[in-house]
Parts: sequence; C-alpha cells; structure tokens
Amino acid sequence: MNYLSVKDIDSIDGWVKEARELKKGPLKYHELGANKTIGLLFFNPSLRTRLSTQKAAQNLGMNAMVMNFDKEGWALEYEDGIRMDQGKSEHIKEAAQVISQFCDIIAIRAFASLEDKDKDKAEIVLNGFKKYASVPIVNMESSVGHPLQALADAITLDEQMAALNGRKPKVVLSWAPHPKALPHAVANSFVEMMQQQEADFVITHPRGYELDAEIVGDSKIEYDQEKAFKDADFIYTKNWSSFNDYGKVLSQDLSWTIDKDKMDLTNSAKFMHCLPVRRGVVVSDGILDGPRSVVIQEARNRMLAQMAVLHQMMRGPQ
Ligand code: CP
Repeated sequence: MNYLSVKDIDSIDGWVKEARELKKGPLKYHELGANKTIGLLFFNPSLRTRLSTQKAAQNLGMNAMVMNFDKEGWALEYEDGIRMDQGKSEHIKEAAQVISQFCDIIAIRAFASLEDKDKDKAEIVLNGFKKYASVPIVNMESSVGHPLQALADAITLDEQMAALNGRKPKVVLSWAPHPKALPHAVANSFVEMMQQQEADFVITHPRGYELDAEIVGDSKIEYDQEKAFKDADFIYTKNWSSFNDYGKVLSQDLSWTIDKDKMDLTNSAKFMHCLPVRRGVVVSDGILDGPRSVVIQEARNRMLAQMAVLHQMMRGPQ
C-alpha cells in the first residue's frame, strides 16, 4: 500500500476515527514497528512534516532515517535512456532500489517546480520512487498534493465539529496574498478531502487563481471573498500561485488578507492554516493569536495523521 493522495484513503471518517483513538493511546502499537525503518527523504525544507513524521514513527516503534536529499544526496536523473554526461550523478533506478534495501517505507517531499506544468503534474520524483522502489511510498508533499496535511485537517475539523451539534458545517477555502509563488499541493488535497465530507464547501479566490479544474470538479467557487465568508464555520486559508498562468503571482492584493473584519462576517468561524504562515500578509496577528485560530491544533494533528497512515500501512488490510 502506498499513500500518495487523499484518494488512497478508503474512508476518511474511518481514518479520522482511528487517529482520534491513537490520540488516546499513542504508544498502543509501539510493538508494530519494531525492527522496521522509515526513510524520510526531503528535497525541500520542512518543520512540521519532518518532526511529526519522526515522532509518529517513534510512537509506532520504528526507526526513522532522515536525509535532506537536495543537500546530502547525489543529484538524481529521472529520464530513461539518457546519456548521463551532464550534472546528474545517479539515476532514480539505482537510488530507489538502494534505499529500499535499508527502509521498509520511504516517505518523500518533493515540491512542484512551478516552471513546467506537465512535468509537475507527472510527479516525476514521487512516481520515480513508486516505480523503482520495492517498498511502500508515502507522499510528504509532492507537486500536486499534500495528503498527510489534508488528513490532519480532517482530524482538526472533526474535533472542532462537536461545537456544531451535528449541523452540517460551512467550510471556506480562501486564497490569501503572499509575496512568493507557492505551489497548489495543500489547496488541492484540501479540496479532495472536502469533496468527501458532508459540508457546504466553497472555494474563494481572485479571478486568475483558479485551481486545476480536474481537481476542483464541481466544487463551488465564489469570487467575492466577503460573500463566501458569510455564515462560514471554518475558514481554511492558503496562498497558491496561478495554475492557468502556471506558477505566476498575478496579484498580492492585501484586501484578501484574513483579518477581524473578514472573520466577523462568519458564524464565529475557526481559522485554519497549514503553516508556515506570513503574519500581516496572509493573516493579521490578531486572528492568528486569537481564540478563533486552531493552527497549533492542526500542526499537532499532523502526528496523528502520520500515525494513522503508518499504522494502516504496517498493519495491512483487515
Ligand atoms: N504544513 C507543513 O507541511 O509544514 P512543513 O512545510 O513545515 O512541513
């Protein structure tokens, strides 16, 4: 079993329930991972994913080997049949097979380049490892998705939902400004996760920031952020660059920043963000530091999500 996308979850509700059980007894399956090793390969920086996955592995009794592949590994070639007389020193074919000799699971972080849409959509790093490794692969954020983040977000929503007394929530995914071009992975996986939830789900962003239509499907889009926020129970905020004008920052319109005036349009909504977040650009200090913010809970739930995924992978089908 691989965990490459939200679509690899057979039942989000079931996995969320399992994560919440693991929260009560994080060491319950400590024997399951004995003598097993997970290799964490980072082609990009990380704080939460790295620490929470290491901690999850530790709770399950696994050893975790971490490699900052972009700095410590050989530059990898992914194309088949190429004469390797340029800068790339090792082919993915050997690298993936060698890592498989030492790891029972390989987890990979490899962001989108935001330069070549087709190459990014092809997920050459993740799929290269999937093709040539002989052990299961976990996506720790790829070009297209961040399914571990989406599972942690589903856990957070579930924990917060109790306050709604069974009422169907309104959940808004809102674009917010950012000075740099950011990938679409977090937003994509959040959309895919929400499409499997009982919720009134709305995506709001300026025109030009439409996400991949193949992922958005028939999810509702509202270009008026204030209209979208009306009666919302959850505001999930994220910046992403343009998908159609691939990787471009079309605007840094600070009128889309999440602040008290915006949050006051909602039904006392909780503020969610995957972190890291830029204060004063994406969100005001007052909202991030205030009682509506559940960002630290989300970050804490990353460990539970990782534990649920690793537990499912090691336990196998029931
Ligand atoms: N949200 C998230 O994936 O955080 P890191 O990039 O710090 O791992």
